[in-house]
Amino acid sequence: MNEHVSLPLQAEEAFQRPDSRPNTRKVFIKTYGCQMNVYDSTRMSDALASDGYVTTEEMAEADLILLNTCHIREKAADKVYSALGRLREMKKTRAAEGRELMIGVAGCVAQAEGEEILRRSPSVDVVIGPQTYHRLPEALRNARAGKRVVDTEYAVEDKFEHLPQPEKAKVRARGVTSFLTVQEGCDKFCTFCVVPYTRGSEVSRPVQQILDEAERLVDGGVREITLLGQNVNAWRAEGPKGGEWSLGDLLYRLAEIPGLARLRYTTSHPRDMDDKLIEAHRDLRTLMPYLHLPVQAGSDRILKAMNRRHTAAEYLRLIERIRSVRPDIAMSGDFIVGFPGETDRDFEDTLRIVEDVNYASAFSFKYSTRPGTPGAELGDQVAEEVKSERLERLQALLLKQQADFAKSCVGKVIDLLLEKPGRMPGQVIGRSPWLQSVNVDAKTSQIGDIIQVRIIGTGPNSLFAEPAGSLVGA
Ligand code: SAH
Ligand code: SF4
Ligand code: F3S
Repeated sequence: MNEHVSLPLQAEEAFQRPDSRPNTRKVFIKTYGCQMNVYDSTRMSDALASDGYVTTEEMAEADLILLNTCHIREKAADKVYSALGRLREMKKTRAAEGRELMIGVAGCVAQAEGEEILRRSPSVDVVIGPQTYHRLPEALRNARAGKRVVDTEYAVEDKFEHLPQPEKAKVRARGVTSFLTVQEGCDKFCTFCVVPYTRGSEVSRPVQQILDEAERLVDGGVREITLLGQNVNAWRAEGPKGGEWSLGDLLYRLAEIPGLARLRYTTSHPRDMDDKLIEAHRDLRTLMPYLHLPVQAGSDRILKAMNRRHTAAEYLRLIERIRSVRPDIAMSGDFIVGFPGETDRDFEDTLRIVEDVNYASAFSFKYSTRPGTPGAELGDQVAEEVKSERLERLQALLLKQQADFAKSCVGKVIDLLLEKPGRMPGQVIGRSPWLQSVNVDAKTSQIGDIIQVRIIGTGPNSLFAEPAGSLVGA
């Protein structure tokens, strides 16, 4: 049987230096969950590239399959185990052919379940948590030497400082929009949520590190950067001239980078929307008029039980303040139905807050009991049929608001950042300032340009537009 080891690992002398290894191994990364996992997957791909791995889009040709997993709801975590079941078969077939296949589990399930994954899934070679991705090449080397590895420490060293930055050509190949993690972890401890346990406590990246990464991205052709954090607006760091910077200050500074046309940030907590950030929405044209600000529920009793630490009225007041400085801002949110103890009346309050805010887009979920969270200890769980019925009603309302918002755009002339080829030849897909996908007739050579278009119609998940004159920014 293989031996389990926990990191920190010693470098294996028997191995060649990574950079002297021929460039033949291929890695396939499957990403589940939120945008931060998307960002992390690209960084893992970069870390593995400096260790001789090429990233492939074809699972069948991979020598290493990495699952970057999500633990937020039971269904998300279950997906990982069914995927691992299929991979086990694939590994057996490969072994019969005499070909190696390594399997790694990264992300939030790795962090939450650690050793348990090795017990349940004998084909897994490496389990690595989000705080230790810089040690992934080392973990793989140990696994290749026959030691299955679990590395889920909250590392003392800064992973971002150790993760390599991609080469310019790679940035270019990844497209004109990019995520950039500025903050990770959460200290809020909402009673339903696993994130404080899977991502650890709040850590903000230093200003210079963020600026360097943003400049590299822009240098590689990126026009739009979305700053990421589990609580991105809780980002705080020392400013270049001393004194503390909050996310608002950072946005003002990033807006000065020549060539960077658009900025976004996600996900925000209502408690951390400070004055500076609201001013940034007033002052910065580069800061897009779109804000994802989850409220989860509309009943004060449920908000309190969820430990959200604000009332429905406070949330509405906050949105009013933001809209008073940026009237065209599109609001987005997350909702949970069926939190333990939620009555019909509480649920009506959720519908009411949705009516009051009028969302341009939203995500809604049935409450899923997560082991280890305070919510799991609560009695008074809501029956599954009740949750389903509430979710249906809520989603019908949110979908109607989303469709109304899309319709309200028809006839408007807007700036469109051209992002990627469309499905039809001669078409390109771009993003509106409000994060909608928009199809327009354009040349693929225009990708990266911002052009003016007139919205002429709506589809189920996108808008249609025609060019309307001038180039706004190339
Ligand atoms: N930091 C963000 C949320 C991150 S998780 C915030 O504070 O809003 C993304 C969304 O998943 C949450 O907003 C919530 O709506 C949903 N979610 C989290 N835990 C859940 C659970 N146990 N059951 C159902 N939905 C959940
Ligand atoms: Fe989870 Fe709440 Fe933290 Fe968001 S703020 S990540 S919902 S604990
Ligand atoms: Fe899922 Fe982890 Fe993101 S639990 S939502 S991948 S922070």
